[in-house]
Amino acid sequence: MMKKLTTTLLIICISVAVFAQETVSMQVNAKADKDKISRFIYGHFAEHLGRCIYDGFYLEDSTLNVPKQGRIRMDVVNALKAINIPLLRWPGGCFADRYHWSDGIGPKDKRPLRINSTWGMVPEDNSFGTDEFLQLCNLLNCEPYIAGNVGTGTPQQMSDWIEYLNFGGKSTLADMRRANGHAAPYKVAFWGVGNESWGCGGDMTPEYYADLYKRYAAFCINYPGAPLKKIMSGANADDYNWTEVSMKNVRPNQMWGYSMHYYTIVNNWQHKGSATNFNEEEYFKGLKSCLNIETLINKHSAIMDKYDPEKKVSLCVDEWGIWTDPEPNTNPAFLYQQNSLRDALIAASSLNIFNKHCDRIRMANLAQTVNVLQALVLTQKEKMVLTPTYYVFDLYKYHQDATLLPVNFFSPDYKYGEESIPAVNASASKDSNGVIHITLVNIDPNNKITVNASLNGAAFKTTEGQVLTSASFSDVNTFDNPNKVKLAAFSDFKKIGNDLSINLPPMSVVLVTLK
Ligand code: AHR
Repeated sequence: MMKKLTTTLLIICISVAVFAQETVSMQVNAKADKDKISRFIYGHFAEHLGRCIYDGFYLEDSTLNVPKQGRIRMDVVNALKAINIPLLRWPGGCFADRYHWSDGIGPKDKRPLRINSTWGMVPEDNSFGTDEFLQLCNLLNCEPYIAGNVGTGTPQQMSDWIEYLNFGGKSTLADMRRANGHAAPYKVAFWGVGNESWGCGGDMTPEYYADLYKRYAAFCINYPGAPLKKIMSGANADDYNWTEVSMKNVRPNQMWGYSMHYYTIVNNWQHKGSATNFNEEEYFKGLKSCLNIETLINKHSAIMDKYDPEKKVSLCVDEWGIWTDPEPNTNPAFLYQQNSLRDALIAASSLNIFNKHCDRIRMANLAQTVNVLQALVLTQKEKMVLTPTYYVFDLYKYHQDATLLPVNFFSPDYKYGEESIPAVNASASKDSNGVIHITLVNIDPNNKITVNASLNGAAFKTTEGQVLTSASFSDVNTFDNPNKVKLAAFSDFKKIGNDLSINLPPMSVVLVTLK
């Protein structure tokens, strides 16, 4: 009798433990109306690096049989338009602090041939320059974000570039722009004053750079109708001293934004790990490294709050994403990597974190759009492949400029060996039509997790769902098999009164839409 009772108790305990492990109670505050998720959190980054610009956005071989406008690849443009790309950062990256804008304007046969000494010592013929970049942004219907050269450029050069771009009156530089085919000023707003000035941008101390920032920024002029949003080059990952010194020395009204760069690294910078060939240990390490960005955001934000309690300065995560070893048999300086379901989960989790912190983060740019690092699009001659990460931006596009609905819950752990990380992350927003979108990630590759979400009384009649998942976390889309990882309709949820019960498959990103 006693033995039977013990066994029954044991079974009950085990079931409760398993049940507790796999069910989440989530509160979505559907009545919140405090913070807006800036669409610029969904921005992207394109550098003169490897095959991102040349052979990615801009055809090297103009006879290639793809839709094009001049040499701009319209299949790539149309794919990015479909996810409402809001912003594109250019020309670097490290390249920006060696780039002289005057090399890239006017007749192409007169443009100088330089060496891209940052990325592989390859020839840079400057055929893609300022006017081509702005044509690209116009075709993408997105805002340009230009990173100016502090490392090897002068304040005069930076100031001239802005006059060329933004001055609507009569001047030699504005007339040069007209002669190059653009009568109206471009009104570029987002302006980076250097890039990674602690490293490739000049190896500076934060004190020295803070002074240089003020010097250069003083000559970045607001022309009529074209006010600049100046962005200070911020910290590398967890360099909190850089943020402390920057915020102490530069007043909030002297910058629109302060940047931070963070890359997800699986192992270490010397041996980052393969993009396609990895086991669960590396999968776990990758996701753990990704989630670490929230600690950095909290700590940098706390320092910013000290000097800017009204949160006037935007934190701009203007480079982020997973950085793996390059694909075998490619130029290692070109940073070409494949993109798996794991990388999609990294993107989705990062975007949920950025949404949550949208009171401070008002811009983020994934590195780097086409053929480089965590790309959305890969190209090979005429062929183009959309990566799993692309589909995350497709699912999340509804959050752009929507009102954040804070979510509260305790996530079960995803355990690997002795370590654990939260298995579930999520964010929610309400758009201008009152439609609610909830994006949820289940990182756990082995367990389905049920989320019981209550919506604070919000009424909704219809529900729709979409899911991104695949059989293995290392699944990728290739030129031969481009649709292995893609979006599918999702219906494994039910409405219970005004609440929802959602079953998240292992290693999945789910969007639920409530109308
Ligand atoms: O995105 C690749 C490089 O990473 C960028 O050029 C640089 O800013 C960063 O270190």
